[in-house]
Amino acid sequence: MRRSIPKTGIGWPEIQAELAQAQKKDVDWRHGRLSGMVYFADEDVLQVTKDAYSMFFSENMVALHAFPSLERLEREVVEMASGLLNGDESVTGSMSSGGTESIFLAMKAARDWARDNRPTKGTPEIVVSRTAHPAFNKSAHFLDLKVIRVPQGPDFRADVGAMEEAITENTIILVGSAPAYPHGVIDPITKLGELAQARGLWLHVDSCVGGYLAHWVRELGYPVPDFDFSVPGVTSISADLHKHGYAAKGASTVLFRNADYAKYHGFEFDDWARGHYSTSTFTGTRSGGGVAAAWAVLNYLGEDGYLEIVGEILDARAILRAILWLARGVWPAARGAHDVADDEGCRSVVDDLRVKIVDGSQGHDLVIVSKPKRVSGFHRIPPARTRAA
Ligand SMILES: Cc1ncc(COP(=O)(O)O)c(C=O)c1O
Repeated sequence: MRRSIPKTGIGWPEIQAELAQAQKKDVDWRHGRLSGMVYFADEDVLQVTKDAYSMFFSENMVALHAFPSLERLEREVVEMASGLLNGDESVTGSMSSGGTESIFLAMKAARDWARDNRPTKGTPEIVVSRTAHPAFNKSAHFLDLKVIRVPQGPDFRADVGAMEEAITENTIILVGSAPAYPHGVIDPITKLGELAQARGLWLHVDSCVGGYLAHWVRELGYPVPDFDFSVPGVTSISADLHKHGYAAKGASTVLFRNADYAKYHGFEFDDWARGHYSTSTFTGTRSGGGVAAAWAVLNYLGEDGYLEIVGEILDARAILRAILWLARGVWPAARGAHDVADDEGCRSVVDDLRVKIVDGSQGHDLVIVSKPKRVSGFHRIPPARTRAA
């Protein structure tokens, strides 16, 4: 039966019970059964994000003149993100609702920058590796751009030579991922930066899943290739707070090397009855909660908190590798690179192992990557307190 709005309102206890019932068949992310999708640090971190979100639940990001608090919080989040990504004082940007929107805003900025600085005769083109997120095609669809997807190299990284060959007179943007979601490896951003500079192109680095992770992996002594504003030629970066930043969902950052690039990502309009209208994102009304929660969690965890969590992610990787070695005789490191927390070892086996892992550990949802078929994902041992519960 189709549901309709009840004639008389229902009490909260009954509603709450029905919501809890509806959740029963969902994957148990609290106990580490889900790879990606939910990035859970611990109950206390979750509570901080919920409390901060609630404090700014009703405030509206579309009216920053009314909420100087949110203007300040967003600016400080952007400053903290810039510091993490080796940006200097010139780096600027915005918070958005997520990775897709951050990518959209960067592509929009690049398109409008190209119109002013290197106009094309045909449809402007974006050259990406096949491993890049679908959000580039989604953005291109709405922005009337064309995406050229180039096969990745044998190490799953972008093949810079092949990307160079794909450049045409209409190309305006190159994209590198740090890392790409399917395999967790960082594209050769330094080489892409050189190529972008040589050809006068905009280089966007999609660090949605790694932007708030890679720095800590490096701090813990693991080698991470350069991928951020330390690389000359990088124009913009997308990095999601609602992933390894452990913020509430609806929080990402899009950063630009300087205001000359950033000025193209917003929208301004005057021709309506209410006067000037401008937004720095695609969305109009947006809760201030996501901004406040992100600001809160960055300050709550601090460097030590992030290092602790990322250390546990790297432990999970080591354990998964050991399982793979024992179960299948596969030693992942021999197969190539791994840059952040993705489990290279999982990638080296086909999906019959998925059955084993699912059977053996009560339903871990490992991510299956197609062509070539691999198992992949971002895993974490559940926090000790949750493990005990
Ligand atoms: C590398 C990368 N880019 C972009 C996105 C899109 O982010 P969102 O789902 O927040 O829009 C993701 C999501 O997993 C991602 O991993």
